[in-house]
Amino acid sequence: EKGGYDHFMLKEIYEQPRAILDTFRGRLRTNEAIIKMSGVEDNMKKFLNADRIIVVACGTSWHAGLVSEYIFEDLARIPVEVEYASEFRYRNPVITEKDLVIAISQSGETADTLAAIKLAKSKGAFVFGVCNVVGSSIARETDAGAYTHAGPEIGVASTKAFTTQITVLTLIALRLARAKGTISSSDYRHHLIELELIPSKVEKVLKSDDYVKTIANIYKDVKNFLYLGRGYNFPVALEGALKLKEISYIHAEGYPAAEMKHGPIALIDENMPIVVIATKKGHYDKVVSNIQEIKSRKGKIIGIVTEGDQQVKELADHVIEVPETLESLSPLVTTIPLQLLSYHIAVMLNKNVDQPRNLAKSVTVE
Ligand code: M6R
Repeated sequence: EKGGYDHFMLKEIYEQPRAILDTFRGRLRTNEAIIKMSGVEDNMKKFLNADRIIVVACGTSWHAGLVSEYIFEDLARIPVEVEYASEFRYRNPVITEKDLVIAISQSGETADTLAAIKLAKSKGAFVFGVCNVVGSSIARETDAGAYTHAGPEIGVASTKAFTTQITVLTLIALRLARAKGTISSSDYRHHLIELELIPSKVEKVLKSDDYVKTIANIYKDVKNFLYLGRGYNFPVALEGALKLKEISYIHAEGYPAAEMKHGPIALIDENMPIVVIATKKGHYDKVVSNIQEIKSRKGKIIGIVTEGDQQVKELADHVIEVPETLESLSPLVTTIPLQLLSYHIAVMLNKNVDQPRNLAKSVTVE
């Protein structure tokens, strides 16, 4: 059932090229330069008339929501707010029929997300679901939706659900951007072509697995990790830290790289490994200067860099290369080495990777 892998999590990490492909198959039609998703087409007016999008989700799905905030705002120029479902439902939020709510959930059974959906509906908002489990409670409770086609995710630590959620949300954002005219047709085509190349690029990143394992072996006994990223890769930093916490029980925090100087920099010494997503597009120079600041305080840098990178390579203790892609699509490749790193550390520490302590696959309590 684990298909020859030691754990479901590893199997699911390796399934990502296929899962992403399955998620855009039939929807992304590069030759015709169209994106077809019936849940979006049937409700196009609702999407185009919405004053803003409110994303509600928990955990890793919330991180996918944060990535989508960058995509929706950047490409489709729609204001987005991303809310923890658990906070949203308990704080008397301002929400009207002019809001469009996107609820993201792998399981479709998360109690807090379900409650947030019910609240939004009671205020007259249109609610669109992005779920993996067909026929789940959230899929049934939402007004419309689009499934991720990740296949069953068994490991408690979410991996392929995250990348397929980002894929669906990217498709929606691109479709809306085209409808609104906020993206040029050449830029739009470029995105479609690049998105289609993502599965093979993810495949390539997976080849760094052995190298990631050697890095895991060096740092497996540390007590704290920091993860930094900017822009589209800030949520990836949060997600990398969450993965490490969940399965290896090592304390980790994700931060926007520029926030380092407002506090976390105080933590840095020769014992602190810092995973920095430093791909070429997206404030590269700023991230490089963050790395210099870390090195001058003797922190250990694990850089996630674009293939062929020189500058970070000279500064960092280790670099893991990922193929170049559009900045907006980069989370789909940069997140892979972070999943592998947490996986290998947890295995080396003899932790129960697929069923970490205190956690359940779907959180059906409030
Ligand atoms: O099924 P959901 O996407 O609604 O689950 C939300 C979170 O409980 C979930 O992402 C959790 O954070 C995972 N264990 C993360 O790996």
